[in-house]
Amino acid sequence: MRVCVIGTGYVGLVTGVCLAHIGHEVICIDNNIDKVKLLQQGESPIYEPGLTELLRGCIASGHIRFSSDLGTGVEFGEVLFIAVGTPALPNGETDTRYVEAVARGIGAHLHLGYKVIVNKSTVPIGSGDWVRMIILDGVVEREPDLADALKGGGTHPPLDFDVVSNPEFLREGSAVYDTFNPDRIVLGSSSRRAIQIMQELYGPIIERKYAADPTLPPVPVLVTDLSSAEMIKYAANAFLATKISFINEIANICDRVGADVVQVAKGMGLDSRIGEKFLQAGLGWGGSCFPKDVSALIHTAADYGYDAQLLKAAVQVNQRQRFIVIEKLQQVLKILKGKTIGLLGLTFKPNTDDLRDAPALNLIEELHRLGAKVKAYDPLVSQSGLRSGLSHVIVETDLLHLADGCDALVLVTDWPQFQEVDYGELAKVMHQPVIIDGRNFLDRKGLESLGFRYVGMGH
Ligand code: UDX
Repeated sequence: MRVCVIGTGYVGLVTGVCLAHIGHEVICIDNNIDKVKLLQQGESPIYEPGLTELLRGCIASGHIRFSSDLGTGVEFGEVLFIAVGTPALPNGETDTRYVEAVARGIGAHLHLGYKVIVNKSTVPIGSGDWVRMIILDGVVEREPDLADALKGGGTHPPLDFDVVSNPEFLREGSAVYDTFNPDRIVLGSSSRRAIQIMQELYGPIIERKYAADPTLPPVPVLVTDLSSAEMIKYAANAFLATKISFINEIANICDRVGADVVQVAKGMGLDSRIGEKFLQAGLGWGGSCFPKDVSALIHTAADYGYDAQLLKAAVQVNQRQRFIVIEKLQQVLKILKGKTIGLLGLTFKPNTDDLRDAPALNLIEELHRLGAKVKAYDPLVSQSGLRSGLSHVIVETDLLHLADGCDALVLVTDWPQFQEVDYGELAKVMHQPVIIDGRNFLDRKGLESLGFRYVGMGH
């Protein structure tokens, strides 16, 4: 099938490359010419395990190409994915201006032939119909004579298209794996023709031809109306974020009553109605999706006169959680002014170089405000990778330099390699061997036997 993916951000690039890998002819469009050039040379602008290899393979086989010309993409694709960014505005509302510009652009270039237009970007509920309207506006701007045909709900060329909402559930750091091993595929549309084309497009993935375990039954495909598909994405992310805030609240209570949240989470997770995943207490959630999507859902609810109290509480617990590490440092070190704190990890989670809404950023600011000196080490972040406002953090290139002279270490990101470190060597160069394990990730007994004072999160 001929596919055009508009926007080569996280979702767009992974979708384009994976669809090319399973045999479709893909063109990816981005208005950032530097990015297009980079991709044409087989370089990925994002860090994602396995992506560069697939990208290079698809370029070599001729299944994927990159361009900044939207017209070429629209003409080429039978299926057009809108995968541009939908960042949050300062008030939490979703900024849909990039989706709007793309939809208008699609309208301006629609010619003969039926097209399926897929909303992959996480857009506010109700956007599917809105995208359809904007596309039609784009058509009419180009061909005013068609305005009359539109009034009758026209379905003749170039108005022959359907909009499908196809939310994306991939996680950073395992985006390629998630694309080939989805838990479900959600397709929101009232058009049977469009749904059939989408099922064909995803056929090899549905049949698990590229899955880690090809013997599993086919991937469930849920067909819904447009708005429900859009809501599923928000509801799933809001639920997971709330689940984490819930276990963090339990962790804080555990701290006070002397219980261990790791054991509590295990005992809860064994209940099949609860499940063990997303019950890891710690510094809370960050990244590009949870914070943005939960705020957007709260905002949408408010627009319709509903006060989403539970979701607001999940956000508040998450914000407070980031500062609990500071309280723990104060309990152990008392005055933080003049003390040196070393952060193990900066990214919002392992296997990504993404610092968006990372708890580390709040920690750094607060420690700095309290007069502490902050050093950090992250496998994927260098000094130059930090935004200018964070120039007061010293990013070390190895853990021994990080630990040197520290009054405490704080594990911020659960990078697997932090479990393999020789902490005995680090203790020797620290001012005092204290470690706050912000993800309950390290071996308490082992560290204590090395002389560390270990403090977990409800653990
Ligand atoms: C998330 C969703 O999982 C994905 O389906 C959606 O498409 C995008 O948003 P992502 O942001 O990549 O994916 O990260 P995820 O692995 O879900 O983790 C989100 C945050 O929650 C991280 O900061 C992580 O450290 C934190 N987390 C996760 C916990 O604190 N505890 C847990 O038990 C799980």
